[in-house]
Amino acid sequence: MKIAIAGATGRIGSQLTSLSRKAGHEVVEIARETGFDLLAPGDELVAALDSVDTVVDVTACPLDQAATFFPTVARNIGSAATAAGVRRSVVLSIVGVDRSPDYDYYVAKLAQERAYRESAPGVVVLRATQFLDFAAQMLEWNTQDGVARIIDVPTQPVATGEIVRLLLEIVTGDVEGDVELAGPTRENLVDQVRRLVEQSGQDVRVEAVAAPESLAQGAMLPGPDALLRGPSFEDWLAERA
Ligand SMILES: NC(=O)c1ccc[n+]([C@@H]2O[C@H](COP(=O)([O-])OP(=O)(O)OC[C@H]3O[C@@H](n4cnc5c(N)ncnc54)[C@H](OP(=O)(O)O)[C@@H]3O)[C@@H](O)[C@H]2O)c1
Repeated sequence: MKIAIAGATGRIGSQLTSLSRKAGHEVVEIARETGFDLLAPGDELVAALDSVDTVVDVTACPLDQAATFFPTVARNIGSAATAAGVRRSVVLSIVGVDRSPDYDYYVAKLAQERAYRESAPGVVVLRATQFLDFAAQMLEWNTQDGVARIIDVPTQPVATGEIVRLLLEIVTGDVEGDVELAGPTRENLVDQVRRLVEQSGQDVRVEAVAAPESLAQGAMLPGPDALLRGPSFEDWLAERA
C-alpha cells in the first residue's frame, strides 16, 4: 500500500513512517523538512499524492497558530487528495474536541475535523487522549522560577506507540470508522507532574491552576466506546526510572 504521511518528521509521524515501512508499505513523507509547506502547497502536493491509497495527517503547530493552521492544512490536503484520486484520509485528533468550546486549541482541532469532512475523500478520524509524556511536556512548558503551574484536569493518557499502531490499522482497513483511543487508567495531570518531579528529584514546586471549565469537568476523558490500549502512566514512569 502507498501511504502519504503529513507531519512525517514529527513525534507521531516519524514512528508511523517507520512502522509503515517495516510492514512493507511505501511511504511519501510530507513536511516542510521534505519540501512541502502545507499552508501554501503548490501543484507538487497533488503530484506527490499520485497513486497514494491513504493520506494520514499528524501535523501540529504552535498553540497560537492552531486556529488558522489546522483547518487550512486540512483543506489543502483534502483538495489535493481529491484531485489525486486518493481513497482514504485519516486525521489524528483529540478526545473531547467537540466538548470544549472554551479551549481554543480544541476549537481549532474540531475545525480541522470539519474541514476534512468537507473537503477530503474517505475521512476517518482517530481521537486520542493525551500522550503519556504530555505531563513531562507540561512540566517543561509551565515551569518558571522553580514553580510549575499545571492545569487541574482529569486525563487518561495513552502511549504514542499505541496511537501509531491504531493509525496503521485504520490505514490498512483493519479498523473501520471513527474511533477513540485512551490508555487504561484515569489520572490527574497535577498529580502526574508531581510524580514526575519526585522521580527526577527536580527542585520544583507544582501548583494546581484552574483549567477551562470543560476540561476541569472531564472533557479530556474517553467515552464508553473508546478503545483502551497500552501501558498505564505508572508503568511508563517505572520504565523511565
Ligand atoms: N500531545 C498530545 O498529547 C496529543 C494527544 C492527542 C492528539 N494529538 C495530536 O497529534 C498530532 C501530532 O502531534 P506531534 O506531537 O506528533 O506533532 P509534532 O511532533 O510537533 O510534529 C508536527 C509535524 O507537522 C509538520 N508540520 C508543521 N508545520 C508544517 C507545515 N506548515 N507544512 C508541512 N508540515 C508541517 C512538522 O514538520 P516540519 O516542521 O518539518 O514542517 C512535523 O512533521 C497533533 O495534531 C496533535 O494535535 C496530540
